[in-house]
Amino acid sequence: MSRLLIKGGRPLCGEIRIKAAKNAVLPILAASLLTKDPCEICDVPALADISNMLRIMQGLGTNCKREEDVLTVRSDDLTSYSVPTDLAKELRSSFFLLGPLLGRMRRAVVAYPGGCDIGVRPLDIHLKGLREMGVAIEESHGNIFCDGTRLRGADVALDFPSVGATENLMMAAALAEGTTRISNAAKEPEITDLQNFINAMGGKVGGAGSGKIVVEGRASLHGCKYTPIPDRIVAGTLLIAGATCGGDVCITNVVPEHLEPLLFKINKSACFLDVRSDKITLSCHGRPHHFDKLETQPYPGFPTDLQSQAMVMMSVAEGTSVIVENIFETRFRIVRELTKMGASITVKDRTAVVRGVKGLEGASVSAGDLRGGAALVIAGAKAEGYTTIDGARYIDRGYESIEKTFCALGADVKRLG
Ligand code: UD1
Repeated sequence: MSRLLIKGGRPLCGEIRIKAAKNAVLPILAASLLTKDPCEICDVPALADISNMLRIMQGLGTNCKREEDVLTVRSDDLTSYSVPTDLAKELRSSFFLLGPLLGRMRRAVVAYPGGCDIGVRPLDIHLKGLREMGVAIEESHGNIFCDGTRLRGADVALDFPSVGATENLMMAAALAEGTTRISNAAKEPEITDLQNFINAMGGKVGGAGSGKIVVEGRASLHGCKYTPIPDRIVAGTLLIAGATCGGDVCITNVVPEHLEPLLFKINKSACFLDVRSDKITLSCHGRPHHFDKLETQPYPGFPTDLQSQAMVMMSVAEGTSVIVENIFETRFRIVRELTKMGASITVKDRTAVVRGVKGLEGASVSAGDLRGGAALVIAGAKAEGYTTIDGARYIDRGYESIEKTFCALGADVKRLG
């Protein structure tokens, strides 16, 4: 049971370089199964979700090697198309393997995946799209059996711009015969990154970011060396931490455009931002102002993955803020923990009303999901006194040694066993 101990109350000052985005690396690793050649993925942080994904891929016959921040993945001899149930339950992204396994082996078996418990996360959009591409799918005893003997390009319209479904379909389409057109596709930067990766492997994908993606299937793809985009959610978490705790936080290796919805909000909340081409500096001295209304939406809207962190900032802001969570319904479970620290938040359905208080007090709290856990670290760094956070393993899924990152900014955070 891994816990964090935080002595709060210090401003945050320093510079942090952001590494590749977890949510870009995971689908890219899955897509590396589309070729027999080796792929080198650079700048990859050491995250639990990534090592779980590598373990799953090793179970399929892939050879994965890490040298510092570079992963080399060789899938010349895939021995299985069946994702082991126990590992799939650990990691929702295991589901990304369906698309590439179908492309490469025309068959796939995947258990219903796990991941953070942030609400119902159905797979209907993925499965409907694959069926439209000619895949025969049967579900039984928690497993999904896919027969892609008749996999072919198709016109697929998504009912909702699901990130995972868009990625899965792009990967299946890359080696399908004919052209696939995905409309109402997700527009997240990670989708464009996957497009760029598949194209670096010799694929032909266009339109990512526009909502309409066109994939011309290829008979085979080749290996490549690729550096995924920097993690906009880690970058956003640190900017929000600076705005909450006060201080001067500089983050480098970022794409400011990917953070626009957050920068727009922060700009209005009495913090000074200096935005350069790949560097953002935030200075915040004094209490931040509230956000009138923050509503999570698919990109380019405000990301659900930064909502909990923004809630912590609003808890200590001047004024009252309203937060509407449209993507994952149980993200508000963090409210119970923040209340223990003195926050004043009421929730009804998908809306939270956050009345800013002057300060938070340290308490014993528990992380229930990845982003909620990171938000509690911000709350602990802001609070007077000591905070312990149980369930640090959730945070490790998406933040590389969060205690070291916060210590580098001058916070006092320790890991207890
Ligand atoms: C990805 C991100 C996650 C982020 C989310 C939304 C990864 C590894 N994870 O998750 O960090 O919070 O995008 O930006 O990239 N839905 C359905 N049916 C489906 C698929 C999704 O109803 O078949 C619903 C979900 O329940 C949810 C919404 O669509 O309410 C968004 O889900 P989706 O975009 O698919 O998120 P993920 O790909 O799971």
